[in-house]
Amino acid sequence: MENRLLEKYDRLIKRKGYSTRSEALRDLIRQELVRKEWEEDNEVAGAVTFVYDHHQRGLTSRLTDIQHDYQGLIISTQHIHLDHDNCLEIVAVRGRAREVQKLAHALQSVKGVRHGTLSMTSTGRSIE
Ligand code: NI
Repeated sequence: MENRLLEKYDRLIKRKGYSTRSEALRDLIRQELVRKEWEEDNEVAGAVTFVYDHHQRGLTSRLTDIQHDYQGLIISTQHIHLDHDNCLEIVAVRGRAREVQKLAHALQSVKGVRHGTLSMTSTGRSIE
């Protein structure tokens, strides 16, 4: 590898807290394997996280309806009352990548959901 590139790599991994190049490389490889799992519609795991205003009429029940429609994918749901208005929900999921993405889009696109993200990770089996 070119020296300049290697120096940049060393600076980058140092900032991220890795103590060796091989530790950083291991994580890069796993990241790529996880990305491939999602691309190829394999069985994946993840978390859908979203924030919404629970005062908005009908919103809570709409969000619950969607979660019941995808009940086979959902492992657990955690609800946190952030403040007087805002609720945070973390939905842990496991299933085919496309289905998980459909669920995430369905939840994020409901009117009144202020922000949502999908954290894409692995069931762990393919990255041992
Ligand atoms: Ni709440």
